[in-house]
Amino acid sequence: MIYDSILDTIGNTPVVKLNHIAPKKQTVFVKVEAFNPMASVKDRLAVAIINAAEKSGDLKPGQTVIEATSGNTGIALAMVCAAKGHPFVATMVETFSVERRKIMKALGAKVILTPASERGSGMVRRAEELASKNGWFLSRQFENEANPRYHRNTTGPEILKDFADRDLNFFVSGWGTGGTMTGAGEIIKLARPETQIVVAEPENAALLSGKEWTPHKIQGWTPDFIPRVLKKEVADRFVPVSDDESIEVAQKLAKEEGIFTGISGGATLAACFKTAEVAPENSTFCVMLPDTGERYLSSPLFEQISEDSDEDWLSCV
Ligand SMILES: Cc1ncc(COP(=O)(O)O)c(C=O)c1O
Repeated sequence: MIYDSILDTIGNTPVVKLNHIAPKKQTVFVKVEAFNPMASVKDRLAVAIINAAEKSGDLKPGQTVIEATSGNTGIALAMVCAAKGHPFVATMVETFSVERRKIMKALGAKVILTPASERGSGMVRRAEELASKNGWFLSRQFENEANPRYHRNTTGPEILKDFADRDLNFFVSGWGTGGTMTGAGEIIKLARPETQIVVAEPENAALLSGKEWTPHKIQGWTPDFIPRVLKKEVADRFVPVSDDESIEVAQKLAKEEGIFTGISGGATLAACFKTAEVAPENSTFCVMLPDTGERYLSSPLFEQISEDSDEDWLSCV
C-alpha cells in the first residue's frame, strides 16, 4: 500500500478478538491503537489539532508548536510537526518514562521537564507561560474541540463499521484528555443506543466517580483535573481499577495473547473484566488499547524483566 505521507497512515486500527484470557461466556475484542505510526491513540489527536489550526490560520507555516504532555501526545505531535515542518516543544512531568522523552527528541523535538510535585497542572502552566512569552502555538489537547471531533469522525465510525453485523454491548475506554471516550462514545451511543459506554479510572484518582486525585501509575490517564473536552454524561458507568490490576492484566495480555500494550491498556482491559462479571452472559465488549508496551520497558510494567541470557533456564528443560 502506497501513502503520500506518514500522516495518511493514522487510524483504521485493527480490532482483535481475545482467544485465551477473556472471561468465560463473554466475547472481548481489543482495538489496538499501537498500529498507529507512532504507536498510540494520540496520533489521531495530534493530526486533528494541527490540521484544524493550519486551516483556521491559528498556526502559520513554520511556526513552533508547544504542548503539555504525558508523553504519547508529545510523541505524536513531534511526528506530525516533523512531517509538516513545524518545530515542536513538549513540557512534561519528570516522572514519565525515559523512552518517551528520547523518542520525542529523536523526532526533533525539545523536551522541558517539570517537577513531579507540581503534577499535571504544573506542566500545563509551564507550556502556557512559554507559549505566551515566545508566540508559539499551544495545542491545548485538554481543551481543543478538534480532539473529540476527530474521535467522532474516525475512532467511533471505525468501531461502528467493524461491529456492523455484530452485537456491541459494551465500549470500554479510560480517559486522559477524555477525547476518546467523549468522541467515540458519543457517536457509538448515537448509532447504537443499546451499547453501554464504560469509563475506566485509576482507583487512586477516580475523579469522575467523585474521589480525590492521588498519584497513580497509569501513565496517560487522569490528570489532577477534569479536562474541558470531557463530557461525563457520555458514560453509562465508571469502573475504578488499581495500578497492580492494570499491570497484571497488561502482562497477561502480552504473555497469553501476544498483544503488547501499556499500563493503560491493561487498565482498560481490567475494567472490561470487572464489568464482564456483572454483565449478562454472551455480551460483546470492544476495549480501547491506547498504546504499545514498548513505551514501558523502564516502568513498573516491565522493569522486572531481566536483560540477562536465559542460559540457566536451558539446563532445566
Ligand atoms: C497511554 C494513554 N492511555 C490513554 C490515554 C487516554 O486518551 P484520551 O486523551 O483520548 O482520553 C492516553 C492519553 O492521554 C494515553 O497516553
